[in-house]
Amino acid sequence: MADVSKNEKKTYYITTPIYYPSGNMHIGHSYTTVAADAEARYRRLKGYDVMFLTGTDEHGQKIQRKAEEKGVTPKEYVDEIVANTKALWKLMNVTNDQFIRTTDDFHIKAVQKIFKRLYDQGDIYKSEYEGWYCTPCESFWTETQLVDGKCPDCGRPVERTREECYYFRLSKYQQRIIDHIESHPDFIQPVSRKNEMLNNFLRPGLEDLCVSRTSFDWGIPVTFDEKHVVYVWVDALSNYITALGYASEDDSRFKKYWPAQVHLVGKEIVRFHTIIWPALLMALDLPLPEQVYGHGWLLIDGGKMSKSKGNVVDPRILCAKYGCDAIRYFLLREVPFGSDGVFTNEALIGRINADLANDLGNLVSRSVSMQLKYFGGVQSAEKTFADIDNEISRLFREIYDNVQVQMDALQFPSALVEIWRGVSRLNKFIDETAPWVLAKSADTDPAAKARLAGVMYTLLEGIRIVSVLIEPFMPETPAKIREQLGILGKDELTVWESASKWGVYPDGTEVKKGEALFPRIDPAKELEELEKLSAAQKADAAAGKPEEKKNADEAAKAEDGANLITIDDFAKVHMKVARVLEAGRVEGSDKLLILKLDAGGEIRQVVSGIAKQYSPEEMKDKKVILITNLKPAVLRGVTSEGMILAATKGKKLVLVTVDGDIPEGADIS
Ligand code: MSP
Repeated sequence: MADVSKNEKKTYYITTPIYYPSGNMHIGHSYTTVAADAEARYRRLKGYDVMFLTGTDEHGQKIQRKAEEKGVTPKEYVDEIVANTKALWKLMNVTNDQFIRTTDDFHIKAVQKIFKRLYDQGDIYKSEYEGWYCTPCESFWTETQLVDGKCPDCGRPVERTREECYYFRLSKYQQRIIDHIESHPDFIQPVSRKNEMLNNFLRPGLEDLCVSRTSFDWGIPVTFDEKHVVYVWVDALSNYITALGYASEDDSRFKKYWPAQVHLVGKEIVRFHTIIWPALLMALDLPLPEQVYGHGWLLIDGGKMSKSKGNVVDPRILCAKYGCDAIRYFLLREVPFGSDGVFTNEALIGRINADLANDLGNLVSRSVSMQLKYFGGVQSAEKTFADIDNEISRLFREIYDNVQVQMDALQFPSALVEIWRGVSRLNKFIDETAPWVLAKSADTDPAAKARLAGVMYTLLEGIRIVSVLIEPFMPETPAKIREQLGILGKDELTVWESASKWGVYPDGTEVKKGEALFPRIDPAKELEELEKLSAAQKADAAAGKPEEKKNADEAAKAEDGANLITIDDFAKVHMKVARVLEAGRVEGSDKLLILKLDAGGEIRQVVSGIAKQYSPEEMKDKKVILITNLKPAVLRGVTSEGMILAATKGKKLVLVTVDGDIPEGADIS
């Protein structure tokens, strides 16, 4: 736990998973990244040479399909989402040193070299695959792995596939992986995940893994067999080394930072990181990462957050409303790291009010106010201390040590609990010493005045240390506190090690009154507003509004403080009753129907994603609601001049129609 010596700066390489660019990120995605950022910041503060990597995992059939549905190229499709992802990390003060995209040229070339090398040395061989494929998870499953005939990971239906593919000899590495896990007790954390890997996957036996695909082409081409693209995990997992220049002309960063100290991942991808990834590294003759830490999920309504469930919580809305430090604090404080936890609006508001506004915010504002009132803001050198001050200084030293123990073990909530022990102790200290009572006799009694100065000193010194310890979690708040304490920019009082020292706040320093750090929230009013936001979000999702746009709109609305549209906004949407004249399938798509509609003499062609629920025959003569003034879009090469309305819940979809006889062309208002 000793600080890193200045002469030999130790490296610390930490990664998040690379994210699928599937629309906007929800607060669950921010969880891994914010946690990794807190650790990266902590290590930098401790003097490590940190390499913090995040990025996007952009290939695969799912992306290709989505891009086709939108009528754009896969690259165009991902570019927009990646830009949003980068903007989100910036907004949340995430300090990644690099952002890798699996579409980066250097990554593609390195993956091709890796694949070729594994093929040449016999670790990859050609064969045929027959089995089940889950498109959303991009995972192959054998018959026995399915649960009730469905994907064991997400529970969705799977498709039968048979195709030529290249296999990686995963089975060859089974024993070596078991040996590694058993001889490196910290390799998989928390321990429960280690047992799960050993008992559920490794000991029952590993099968070789299909690592190429021919049924789609949005992937990295296999150089020696171009109809194959490298399939998801070899492409994605390699990012951790290609980002450092592995298999490129300049691999100096790879030599410097590999092996990683920790891959931080969600629990559902621990298996890939502790079985497939080690096997690939073993095949490449490379050392394994020191640790894979599998954290739990943030749950909403009893399930994992997901856009399709319509329970997305947009971090941009929350950051705009409460400030990103409050959101980061909540994410890392609320749920024991490693376990699942439920996200509720009540818990969020409760934490902001109790821990941030009341405990920390009030402590700072009361202390600064008292220093101003009793000493004109300036710390007096004529001060005396009592046992209670010594007890507090000892407590803060203990907290400093404990915070480090917890941060070294990635136990973010426990580190915060430690820091708040200090905050609470200082608040209690104010009640115990009652400075307002001392102040009454301070003018006439020098001993009371000196004691009052001592009390103020203990408070300000404690707050100074808190401002240092919270820095990994809340990057914006420390400067605000230091500004009020009058020590902003004074390195010797604000560097990490300064939190281990008691008594360095200089006499003569002048405090300044500042704004409330975390304004108190009115829970009833705020909950009502959040509920409205989330209802509107669900309604938009049901109406099929593109997610990127939807979230941008909502963030803007949150900034305005309201989520209502005016009658004028509504009037912008023109809708008519239309009758289906003809319907047919869009070639190459199992989701899209092409409809010829009569909207009262005006004939429109509309492409609609209802083919799984309605056959072309069923659609004939149906009366539907058509939005007539939507900008035309091209879907799978077919122009769509409008949109018809449908109601959805989960996978269920039914068309919206009219309740009674009314001719086509009737206005909807
Ligand atoms: N692309 C793969 C990772 C490849 S790494 C070589 C992937 N991407 S993901 O976008 O689906 O997920 C990225 C991370 O976000 C995962 O660690 C996942 O666990 C995390 N989370 C997504 N939803 C989450 C919650 N609701 N709660 C906590 N974390 C969650 O998997």
